[in-house]
Amino acid sequence: MSRNLITGGLGFLGCYLARKLMEKGEEVVIFDLAAGSKLIEDIKDKLKLVRGDLTDWTQVLAAVSDNDIDCIYHLAAMLPPRSEQNLAATFELNVQGTIHVLEAARLLKVGSVLLVSTIATYGLGIPHLSNEDVPQQPRNMYGTTKVCCERLGEQYHRKYGVNFRAVRFPPVLGAGRNDSAQSAFSYLAIREPVLGRPYTLYVERKTRMSLIYVKDAVGSLISLKEADEARLKRRIYNLHGLSFQAADLAQEVRKRVPEARLDFKPDPVMLDSINNWPTLNDARAREEWDWQPKYGLSESVEDFIAEVRANPSAYK
Ligand SMILES: NC(=O)c1ccc[n+]([C@@H]2O[C@H](COP(=O)([O-])OP(=O)(O)OC[C@H]3O[C@@H](n4cnc5c(N)ncnc54)[C@H](O)[C@@H]3O)[C@@H](O)[C@H]2O)c1
Repeated sequence: MSRNLITGGLGFLGCYLARKLMEKGEEVVIFDLAAGSKLIEDIKDKLKLVRGDLTDWTQVLAAVSDNDIDCIYHLAAMLPPRSEQNLAATFELNVQGTIHVLEAARLLKVGSVLLVSTIATYGLGIPHLSNEDVPQQPRNMYGTTKVCCERLGEQYHRKYGVNFRAVRFPPVLGAGRNDSAQSAFSYLAIREPVLGRPYTLYVERKTRMSLIYVKDAVGSLISLKEADEARLKRRIYNLHGLSFQAADLAQEVRKRVPEARLDFKPDPVMLDSINNWPTLNDARAREEWDWQPKYGLSESVEDFIAEVRANPSAYK
């Protein structure tokens, strides 16, 4: 049984990951600045919460050593749009925070470190379907810091043998997302109708989107952690979950919420950016550790709606 530390474990992905690890019978320690999350209210007494700041080295070291951690899932980060408002603070949390995690792993001989990276590490003008060989030229500070985190992880693996592994996700879809990033229309188009509110998508009906459903995303982290080292030819893998047109998303929602009030009012600025996003080619993850998403569009919408209906107050 593993004793896992999840940095940023009270965030969107962290809560799903904590729940999944606990369902597997593993122990979970969450390290987060926040005091709690409605997403894991029901299981909070079964895990340990260490309130701390990732930018404080002594707090990170203490969290790992005091809790006898053998796996760190490193999720805490500053994401867009906040990451673009204060570049120095984003560097401090995303890059210096990652150094703290890697140093603690090195000094305390932690068994594995899993990092969540992002499609935002790629820039414009790359092939529509991009694999790990495509050069990373990020356009924003978030992507820039994540490239740096990836390279740091590789250095700690090469120089000190830290068992660093990472995934690059496209935007993640799921109940509990609560941000205003460019892909936000995808979760709002599901959540708002279930909560009885109208929603206007700022994309075209034919706009295509590539995402990964949150339960596949956290499942992939656990699969990569458990993957046979002998089969891994790299430390960092691109992942892809599902692709769809915005009209298909609206249709899947209306099937389950017939009274849904969804309409479209495309925003050219948003569209310009969204239409340039690549799809990540995940062939190597499929080949080297049998990655296989379980949630297509229909399954994702079904599961998302069930989550919100089961616990509507958590998603208001
Ligand atoms: N959400 C997505 O679509 C997506 C896509 C690709 C990659 N990712 C990556 O996945 C990870 C998790 O993303 P998320 O959507 O769950 O983010 P989130 O913002 O919901 O969660 C981040 C958590 O980090 C915590 N945190 C912030 N500053 C901290 C600090 N100084 N010390 C300790 N904790 C701190 C926050 O309190 C929060 O609970 C991030 O690394 C992100 O880059 C997310």
